[in-house]
Amino acid sequence: MKFDLSIIGLGYVGLPLGLQFAKSGCRVLGLDIDPAKIKEIEAGRSYIRHIPAEDVSMQVKAGRFSVSSDFSKIRDCEAVVICVPTPLNKNREPDISYILKTGEAIAPFLRPENGGQKTEGGGRKKLVVLESTTYPGTTDEDLRMVLEKGSGLKVGVDFHLAFSPEREDPGNPQSKVAEIPKVVGGLTPTCLERTKELYGKAIKKLVPVSSTRAAELVGKENLLVMDIPLLYLVVMLTVLEAEVEEEVVLTYHVLEFPFLQVEAEVEVEVTQIQASAVIQEIQEVVLELLHIIAYL
Ligand SMILES: NC(=O)c1ccc[n+]([C@@H]2O[C@H](COP(=O)([O-])OP(=O)(O)OC[C@H]3O[C@@H](n4cnc5c(N)ncnc54)[C@H](O)[C@@H]3O)[C@@H](O)[C@H]2O)c1
Repeated sequence: MKFDLSIIGLGYVGLPLGLQFAKSGCRVLGLDIDPAKIKEIEAGRSYIRHIPAEDVSMQVKAGRFSVSSDFSKIRDCEAVVICVPTPLNKNREPDISYILKTGEAIAPFLRPENGGQKTEGGGRKKLVVLESTTYPGTTDEDLRMVLEKGSGLKVGVDFHLAFSPEREDPGNPQSKVAEIPKVVGGLTPTCLERTKELYGKAIKKLVPVSSTRAAELVGKENLLVMDIPLLYLVVMLTVLEAEVEEEVVLTYHVLEFPFLQVEAEVEVEVTQIQASAVIQEIQEVVLELLHIIAYL
């Protein structure tokens, strides 16, 4: 059986995302190393409190959501989305060992001729997207190295690679995967195009950014600013990309406050400071702005 995508890691992030793709008509393969989770899903049950069992059983019965712990099935998937854990280590940095292990497990099965829909030019190149929260550089350095070494393939030439931060909103019971705008960044323009094509099947609004590093930074800072994603995103990325050295004034017209539905303008002065300091400053400005708006 061929799959549109595989979701690796069926936890709080991977299971709802996989179900959303399945609801949108994709054939999804869920992969996890935990046999208890595989058993539960095969039986049409949910082990995540806010996901009703019917959501799982309906997609399993319809044949759109299958599960396994056999990673060789990656051969039959056009795309792979990695949602494994990245717990903080003793330095409070994400531990990326789960990501690297997953990379090693999938690398032998990334050849295009082994899977994906056949095209006139042969098998379609596979797309790998990392969603786990991590620090900038994980995708284009660490994961890329493991995938290239284990497969003998070249990223951008033989397969595509991208990062898209997970957008679960744990404090919001009304949160719907399809409704939350999703940031996507690819290693090459074609990687980005393939990523947009994939997520566009299940997510209503995509926010493409210039690189995997930019997307990783958004993910790392994400939870703080769940209510104001677009403003924050624009400011943060511009800072990242401008490599601020001289004194500049960044002015942003805010087009979208998802919950407040207002327009506003924010001005931030930046003087030879690093992106992280700028981000902190922006957070303060934005929070202040939200506070003012709330009392209008
Ligand atoms: N849950 C949230 O609300 C939330 C919020 C922000 C960020 N994140 C990030 O999203 C990522 C996933 O988090 P989560 O909450 O879904 O984690 P989780 O612990 O709920 O689920 C992770 C799943 O991955 C599986 N797994 C572990 N190693 C694996 C491997 N090598 N191969 C296949 N499966 C493997 C586990 O069995 C588990 O089912 C993490 O990077 C986390 O920091 C999650």
